[in-house]
Amino acid sequence: APLRASVTTRVVPKAKSVAQVLPEASYKVAVLGAAGGIGQPLGLLIKMSPLVSELRLYDIANVKGVAADLSHCNTPSQVMDFTGPAELANCLKGVDVVVIPAGVPRKPGMTRDDLFNINAGIVKSLIEAVADNCPEAFIHIISNPVNSTVPIAAEILKQKGVYNPKKLFGVSTLDVVRANTFVAQKKDLKLIDVDVPVVGGHAGITILPLLSKTRPSATLSMAYAAARFVESSLRALAGDPDVYECTYVQSELTELPFFASRVKIGKNGVESIISSDLEGVTDYEAKALEALKPELKASIEKGIEFVHKHQ
Ligand code: NAI
Repeated sequence: APLRASVTTRVVPKAKSVAQVLPEASYKVAVLGAAGGIGQPLGLLIKMSPLVSELRLYDIANVKGVAADLSHCNTPSQVMDFTGPAELANCLKGVDVVVIPAGVPRKPGMTRDDLFNINAGIVKSLIEAVADNCPEAFIHIISNPVNSTVPIAAEILKQKGVYNPKKLFGVSTLDVVRANTFVAQKKDLKLIDVDVPVVGGHAGITILPLLSKTRPSATLSMAYAAARFVESSLRALAGDPDVYECTYVQSELTELPFFASRVKIGKNGVESIISSDLEGVTDYEAKALEALKPELKASIEKGIEFVHKHQ
């Protein structure tokens, strides 16, 4: 009895459980194109997130093995696999974030137009399913050309009556990750201390890193960049008030309808677009900004036209 008394009267601070420290693992994330070069490592990185309860992997082929392999990682999320269009609706129902790396990368001998035609069709059909099954989800588009596939997605969502510009994101995170890495190497800074905003679009000269705005504050791969963007979206959904990412979104920052820039992301998607990055840029950057506009404008129009031609 004395022993028991001493135990019960001792004030022992209670250890915080993992659930108290981190927001609960309660978000469902779908990856469309999950068996691909980007999809597989992206699935692995999302599987590492403590915020995810279900990781749903969709592809037209080869997704079962990827899912089985990932399911062996002992992190909280459950991995589910879906193969082919007949299983797409079930993959999408109730998800919070949909990431789309489905498509083909450009191969030797392929023109930009070849790539455009294949990926535009893939993104169109996937977004139709997103509109029908999870219209409230954050949508992350990785399939290139992002400058056109994001406007394509916007048009499809409009036609379906479910377009919310605050929740449609072109993943341009790779440009930021690369810019940060190059600047850190060149200036001998720690990577963690570098943050370069990258504006405009996501191809060739439309990518404009604003080096003058570098805050002395990686890409191993696109998968890393995409996973970072998923993690930011989940933190925003979980109520973190301090989530900023560069992303290609509907925008009034310039006269172009879509533009990549730093964006504050909250529970409902884009909360605000950070306009100050375009103020006080150097002459070199101002010229580059004007120079990128015609190409970006053409890519946006090409995407919109594609949807109107294939109705
Ligand atoms: P990949 O060819 O290795 O994988 C693509 C996957 O998509 C394959 O598993 C394929 O089966 C799947 N797929 C094809 N049609 C599909 C459909 N209708 N539904 C579902 N899945 C489908 O290609 P990778 O390297 O993974 O690249 C994917 C896309 O990402 C390409 O368009 C590429 O240009 C783009 N990309 C974007 C970057 C960015 O910064 N936003 C950077 C690098 C690549």
